[in-house]
Amino acid sequence: MVVFLDRASFAPNTNSWCLSGSMADVPKDLLQEIKKLEEQFTVDTSKLKQISDHFVTELEKGLSVEGGSIPMNPTWVMAFPDGYETGTYLALDMGGTNLRVCEITLTDNKSEFDIIQSKYRMPEELKTGESEELWEYIADCLQQFIDTHHGDTPPTEGGKIPLGFTFSYPASQNYIDEGVLQRWTKGFDIAGVEGENVVPMLEAALDSRGVPIKVSALINDTTGTLIASAYTDPRMAVGCIFGTGCNAAYMENCGSIPKLAHMNLPADAPMAINCEWGAFDNEHKVLPRTPYDIIIDKESPRPGQQAFEKMIAGLYLGEIFRLVMVDLHDNKDIHMFEGQDLKQLRKPYSLDASFLSAIEDDPFENLQETADLFSDKLNLACTRPELELIRRTAELIGTRAARLSACGVAAICKKKNMQSCHVGADGSVFNKYPHFKARGAQALREILDWPAKKSLREEDPIEILAAEDGSGVGAALIAALTLKRVEAGNLAGILHPENFR
Ligand code: GLC
Repeated sequence: MVVFLDRASFAPNTNSWCLSGSMADVPKDLLQEIKKLEEQFTVDTSKLKQISDHFVTELEKGLSVEGGSIPMNPTWVMAFPDGYETGTYLALDMGGTNLRVCEITLTDNKSEFDIIQSKYRMPEELKTGESEELWEYIADCLQQFIDTHHGDTPPTEGGKIPLGFTFSYPASQNYIDEGVLQRWTKGFDIAGVEGENVVPMLEAALDSRGVPIKVSALINDTTGTLIASAYTDPRMAVGCIFGTGCNAAYMENCGSIPKLAHMNLPADAPMAINCEWGAFDNEHKVLPRTPYDIIIDKESPRPGQQAFEKMIAGLYLGEIFRLVMVDLHDNKDIHMFEGQDLKQLRKPYSLDASFLSAIEDDPFENLQETADLFSDKLNLACTRPELELIRRTAELIGTRAARLSACGVAAICKKKNMQSCHVGADGSVFNKYPHFKARGAQALREILDWPAKKSLREEDPIEILAAEDGSGVGAALIAALTLKRVEAGNLAGILHPENFR
């Protein structure tokens, strides 16, 4: 048996990719297609810089009274934790893929916590179903959690258990304990929720079941990530999610938020901003979109929205790849998958980001794992040159996502004039996609013109690091910080302060 091993696969910067020995066998017309894809998907240093600069002006626009594409939502999270927060809190995490209920205890030991949690699948039908079904399903999960973990301990006498609700969609908040959904993202499309405050919707479903819970804070996952990361690392200045969706939060000064001027908050008071940067460049001024990005947008439930997110987030990476493959079969002279039935491959959203991860992770020189993947999942047999093209396409899509992500991070750091800090990041793409971190770090280096490292161990001035659990621990910390704020008499942006007493 011949074992092929050790494929050189690392490509932090698409420009530095070079043909492996095996590429020499790729026929000329196929090589030409690879070259075309490289031209479409490569974002070079000067483009990265141009995107980041435009990003800075768009972040500022979002904070202005007139507003812009990026919502820049004030969250009423008005402090960083100091590590000495304590108490037990309930948190609900409604992300894009799963539903999670947690009970978090912030212990007396600095920066430490205990957590018990249950995960529930978010049924696919719910994402495009009826509003009531969504809230009822969530209320059922909360009830199940309470029954399991609080069976015989009723909540505070006659009272209700306060809940930090991590609702990871763009929501405008006049108060921390409300959230008006601006628009669904991440493929959700449920009528009757956009433009509405979601808190009473969830509370109505809880009340009708007699579940003794009230929502005390509505939180974005990025804000949770920022706060949870700062709990253990005071150098954390930005919280990012690179998962099903893509977004970031950072701490702004109230004096730099013109759209909050009417609140007369002290200019130096901190306010966490949920950027909702997935909406960056909805007007298509700088992002180098390919024909595949245009199809993704057109076929999505919200065309014209989330232009940046649609090029980066896990929900879309597999679909971009699928569209390239189908195009290579249908419209090009190279006859990719010639004579084979493409039934499986033609199903929209049938490939997720883990499919691309697996291709990029294939360690074999002959790309055996990739061949198996195509045969098992898509019923397609690939020639060796086709496998090379497949691998290169995955690298291009994954590398572009990482490099574009870095533009957002660089923009926040530039806007805040931060030369050096830590950025806490979470999400399936950040945690699981091969080389995502190294490719992002390389792009940051190019955008910010850092000199070469003196040693491998040397930290970059801005490091993107794995974050603490934002949607659980972050939500608990935000509840604790809000409680502290109520006790200190700062009731700005709190609709029901009595829920914190
Ligand atoms: C989408 C949501 C945003 C969230 C992000 C990551 O961009 O609009 O609120 O933070 O996904 O989950």
